[in-house]
Amino acid sequence: MPKLNSATDLEEFRQEILAHRDPNKLSVAICSGTGCHAYGSEKVAEAFVDEVERNGLRGKVDIRRTGCHGFCERGTIVVIFPEEICYLRVKPEDVPEIVSTTLVEKQLVDRLLYEDDNGQKIVHEGEIPFYKHQSRIVFGNNRLIDPKSIDDYIALGGYSALAKAFLGMTPEQVLEEVKKANLRGRGGGGFLAGIKWETARNALGEIKYVIVNADEGDPGAYMDRSLLEGNPHSVLEGLLIGAYAIGSHQGFVYVRQEYPLAVENLDIALGQAQEYGLLGKNILSSGFDFDVMVHRGAGAFVSGESSALMMAIEGRVGEPRPKYIRTAVSGIWERPSNLNNVETWATVPLIINKGAEWFRSIGTEGSKGTKIFSLVGKVKNTGLVEVPMGMTLREVIFDIGGGIPEGKKFKAVQTGGPSGGCIPESFLDIPVDFDELTKAGSMMGSGGMIVMDEDTCMVDVARYFLNFLAEESCGKCAPCREGLRQMLNTLNNICTGKGKEGDIELLEEISEVVRDASLCALGTTAPNPVMSTIRYFRDEYEAHIKEKRCPAGVCKALISYYIEPEKCQACLICLQNCPVDAISGGKNLVHVIDQEKCTKCGTCFEVCPPRFGAVVKLSGEPVPPFVTGTKVAWEK
Ligand SMILES: Cc1cc2nc3c(=O)[nH]c(=O)nc-3n(C[C@H](O)[C@H](O)[C@H](O)COP(=O)(O)O)c2cc1C
Ligand code: FES
Repeated sequence: MPKLNSATDLEEFRQEILAHRDPNKLSVAICSGTGCHAYGSEKVAEAFVDEVERNGLRGKVDIRRTGCHGFCERGTIVVIFPEEICYLRVKPEDVPEIVSTTLVEKQLVDRLLYEDDNGQKIVHEGEIPFYKHQSRIVFGNNRLIDPKSIDDYIALGGYSALAKAFLGMTPEQVLEEVKKANLRGRGGGGFLAGIKWETARNALGEIKYVIVNADEGDPGAYMDRSLLEGNPHSVLEGLLIGAYAIGSHQGFVYVRQEYPLAVENLDIALGQAQEYGLLGKNILSSGFDFDVMVHRGAGAFVSGESSALMMAIEGRVGEPRPKYIRTAVSGIWERPSNLNNVETWATVPLIINKGAEWFRSIGTEGSKGTKIFSLVGKVKNTGLVEVPMGMTLREVIFDIGGGIPEGKKFKAVQTGGPSGGCIPESFLDIPVDFDELTKAGSMMGSGGMIVMDEDTCMVDVARYFLNFLAEESCGKCAPCREGLRQMLNTLNNICTGKGKEGDIELLEEISEVVRDASLCALGTTAPNPVMSTIRYFRDEYEAHIKEKRCPAGVCKALISYYIEPEKCQACLICLQNCPVDAISGGKNLVHVIDQEKCTKCGTCFEVCPPRFGAVVKLSGEPVPPFVTGTKVAWEK
């Protein structure tokens, strides 16, 4: 194990690693991120080890388990270097063919390649539309390194920014560079990292803390977790550089206990950095000491908020406190404490290595660099995408995401996590950056992006997010605790047909109070899903309240399933699948749903063969009466 005592040691060690690595050697990267792990990536990796051995290729092929590649929906992802041949949805049983055909015979396994809409096969990872339009400057190294190997990170230039900062720059110069870069925090508020660092640096007190926020509790978001799982050293290097600029010698990583792979890889990374002399006393002989402790969070969304998170680190209940004094001035144990998001920290080494000017050349006037989004919902290609700030929503959803599945129409995109807003089609061409999303009534948040199609009920969406936020509210302040509960009651009423005139205005009024009077940003942003859906989809609220109709046919209490007699072919499929025996009929007899018995589970709607399309959803109109025992049309 090398002990690196200087920048020269680090560079020499890097050269030594590279000297033992042939860039033209065959190398198989198997995504072992959480998504692919769930698909069985470990079995795929084991199959590669066995097959390589069986084919006498030991020593001729490197096998690397990497972090998430982003295209999780198509896991397990396997990329073969140096050609970057990308195979998708790889199963253990595909491995013998990959080894014999691609590694031995240098031929492609066509069926595992990406196929575009025109049936064209795409061989190289970088040419797949999902990847082609991205700029993966922060996330891209995930696919090149084994997160459990510090050598892999160092081989790619890892820790060179640390050496540059510690040995070639003063803390003030590092701070100035980050300020010049205009790096805005990726965890939610978009606060300028340099300004926050400066506040902590200038705050009184010898002891200061720096913290990584890896709580990531937003439903559907997993970019921070994947970055920590896939490239923990990049986060650690950023943290070390920040600590140096601020004058902190103790760091914390607040990471969710529910992210076991992130915790495991982080622990390994910390151990390795310590052994290499990149953590601890007198790092690289710079005279700078730094240690890191890992705090495992118990999984409360509100504990991701800065003051709550710091309370939790102190060993208290993770609830927010009023922030008359910023945490950068008085945080953990009332000492200056600088908190940044995982992605923010991982961006710092790039800024130090490539310079603030380079960073500023990417993005928009007010938002520099790239942002990683978790693109999920009703979109063809789901996964993690990293794009330059300023790319339009349309480009992200249609060029990268491939548009809406099954030929359905786009309806809205919810950005910014549970307390973000829903943005309609007319805003698809806005550039994605902190300010534009806020102007549209939403926010960047930490980067959740949930796409919705025409079958989505926007009132139900607002109710869903409000339900999450009301449950996650810590209850400490009345506006958030009571306000969200009242809003949720009102939304539940609207969705169950009990909405009444004035409910929309009531929601607007409570929203304003909750927004203005809550203690922390959970409450102040919680009305966003409601306010934005009222702003852009008011007609849907009105249909629910005035006509007792759910236009999207989602709200159970407002819909009925009905079998159109002239379309029913008496095929018995719905009848046999109904879990509550609510359908009567028989051979040659039109099937009829007993509305009293029907639980509106939708099974009949799903199983009715599309060529018949006999089961329909009705909303806002009475179910036509129908007599059982009627013969189907072709029998008459
Ligand atoms: C309810 C709530 C939950 C939050 N959860 C997270 C989180 O999981 N991760 C995160 O980085 N920031 C989260 N934040 C934002 C943090 O309070 C803080 O602004 C952020 O970690 C600062 O880092 P940044 O400046 O790099 O964005 C949350 C805020 C609120 C109000
Ligand atoms: S976990 Fe494999 S691509 Fe995301």
